[in-house]
Amino acid sequence: MRAGVAAAAALAALAAAPCSLAQGTADHAEGMRLFLQKGNCQACHGWAGDGRKMDNQMPDGPNLRESALDRAAVTLTIKCGRPGRNMPAFDRLAYSDGRCYGMKDADLKKSELTLFDPAAPLQPREIETLVDFLFAKVIGKGPMDRAKCAEYWGSDVEACRELK
Ligand code: HEC
Repeated sequence: MRAGVAAAAALAALAAAPCSLAQGTADHAEGMRLFLQKGNCQACHGWAGDGRKMDNQMPDGPNLRESALDRAAVTLTIKCGRPGRNMPAFDRLAYSDGRCYGMKDADLKKSELTLFDPAAPLQPREIETLVDFLFAKVIGKGPMDRAKCAEYWGSDVEACRELK
């Protein structure tokens, strides 16, 4: 009985630990999927987050690998976007109740600030997973090179061959 309780507590602690401790790098797969697919961040920021955007019709996203923002600021930027500056808000309720910069849709309209539409809104839990991925693989990681590329994709894929 006691052993069962201890095991359950250990499991709970493991689940709460940062993913790098609990699982290792392979398990940033969900965050990566949110970055590349559901949020389509790569359209403007590039698959490596280095600003080499994937879609020339889209606005230029800055190089996230060189971003100096901390976790709270990155989370805020993803949830609230940057009105008037082409970074979409991924929180569905971003400008509904003043949670973002104290502004609502009407305030944005009054100031003539437009927001780029996100590919899809993200749940708070998805944004946490995405931010975990960004800090593990993108933000502060320096320029993408062949070794980092192979680690990022899980193997030395085509996209890595052009890198040194
Ligand atoms: C439509 C293009 C576009 C998409 C899609 C997009 N971004 Fe951005 N992002 C931008 C632009 C443009 C900026 C710079 C805004 C500014 O000038 O303040 C930016 C800024 C940021 C910043 C702040 C960087 C810094 O150092 O100040 C972060 C973090 C960020 N984006 C993350 C993301 C993530 C994560 C996603 C996907 C969930 C995403 N972006 C999707 C265009 C985009």
